[in-house]
Amino acid sequence: MSQNDFLKRREQAIPRGPFHVSPLVVQRAEGAYVWDPNGKRYLDFCGGIGTLNVGHNHPKVVAAIRQQADSLLHACWHVAMYEPYLELAERLNALAPIPGPNKTVLFNSGAEAVENAVKIARSATKRPAVIAFERGFHGRTLLSMTLTGKVQPYTSGFGPFAPEIYRLPYAPFYTHQLQWMADDLAPVKKAIDRLFSYHIEPHEIAAIVFEPVLGEGGFLPMKPHAMRYLRDVCNQHGIVLIADEIQSGFGRCGSMFAVERYGVQPDLITMAKSLAGGLPLSAVTGKSAIMDAPQIGGIGGTYGGNPVSCAAALAVLDVFETENLCARAEWIGEKTEHMLQELSDRYTFIANPRRLGAMCAMDVVTPSGEPDKKMASRIVKAALARGLMIMTASGYVIRLLMPLTIQDQTLVEGLEALSLAVSDVHD
Ligand SMILES: Cc1ncc(COP(=O)(O)O)c(C=O)c1O
Repeated sequence: MSQNDFLKRREQAIPRGPFHVSPLVVQRAEGAYVWDPNGKRYLDFCGGIGTLNVGHNHPKVVAAIRQQADSLLHACWHVAMYEPYLELAERLNALAPIPGPNKTVLFNSGAEAVENAVKIARSATKRPAVIAFERGFHGRTLLSMTLTGKVQPYTSGFGPFAPEIYRLPYAPFYTHQLQWMADDLAPVKKAIDRLFSYHIEPHEIAAIVFEPVLGEGGFLPMKPHAMRYLRDVCNQHGIVLIADEIQSGFGRCGSMFAVERYGVQPDLITMAKSLAGGLPLSAVTGKSAIMDAPQIGGIGGTYGGNPVSCAAALAVLDVFETENLCARAEWIGEKTEHMLQELSDRYTFIANPRRLGAMCAMDVVTPSGEPDKKMASRIVKAALARGLMIMTASGYVIRLLMPLTIQDQTLVEGLEALSLAVSDVHD
């Protein structure tokens, strides 16, 4: 079938709502590469939007999936228990940068993990309100969409929204340039004071949900002093601090979870994406005292923690250890940052090269420094024409989510293709 025929059938059979980074159709994949049905090879720096930190079809993950599929595909955790769920919960409890004892509950998608983290926090605090950030992205279900701080395309036309969600501005909390030394805390304090004075009293707040690095919001890391201040505010007022590590976690930022780079310990962490190397699985891990708040039967689901997904996740965790992927992320990030800096030095329309670990990005801007979505889209197209898959965040940020298992030479090949794609669109 030709690509055009595929697109025609897609248009007939599937609504326009689910977006596409490009018109690419893929048939198979391995490591950092995918192949289209004609056998043309592409280098993948999107990784299923951060789902493939161990690369496509990692042999150990595929072997674990095959072995598990042979013995038990599904049971439903509520009907009959099985070891992979238990083992994965134990490993995530030990891995989470939260002073234990910890507990873990498993779901299918990131949005579901976020929804359940909020349910758990509300149940534990007996409070209704939840604080989220402008530019944050937490999913597309009613509550996670309401938490998402961006109207187009995520909330437009989908109201009424979930009640009791309040929002903090992103600007005092997030930055283009991460500085690890103490920064000016005054604007952060002011934003929190405004929230408590004009919108919601602290004793009504169940949780603050934040991304350590904004994903869809543009790969902007939170300022270290701002994250520490959030922790203090939560301690002071008995608010549950929820780190949404769905995109920033699993080694992407140079440590298993991005909050580890900050030395801040949240109460709950939401995980998904790279947790199971491509299979649908998500988790909420957190302090036992909070996690045990919901009544029996209050949380769960038919497919959550499916045995095959759990087996894949256990293999992913092994791969992280044996291939030392967190250290590798930092190395990849350094090499990538170097190239992004060169591009920004050479071209006025490239600005703010940045990274935390291998969560790397650069902005595409107009001569007056405004976001330039059209130019960013031209770069994405030019890269695809050169065999490199990249994608934007917030339309004007080129975000790079290459696998952490990528070979040195393949990384160089991808960065060169990116550089050539940027020069292709340079008029
Ligand atoms: C930080 C963050 N939270 C939540 C989600 C939602 O995850 P899912 O698409 O699996 O529901 C995403 C997805 O991109 C995300 O990046």
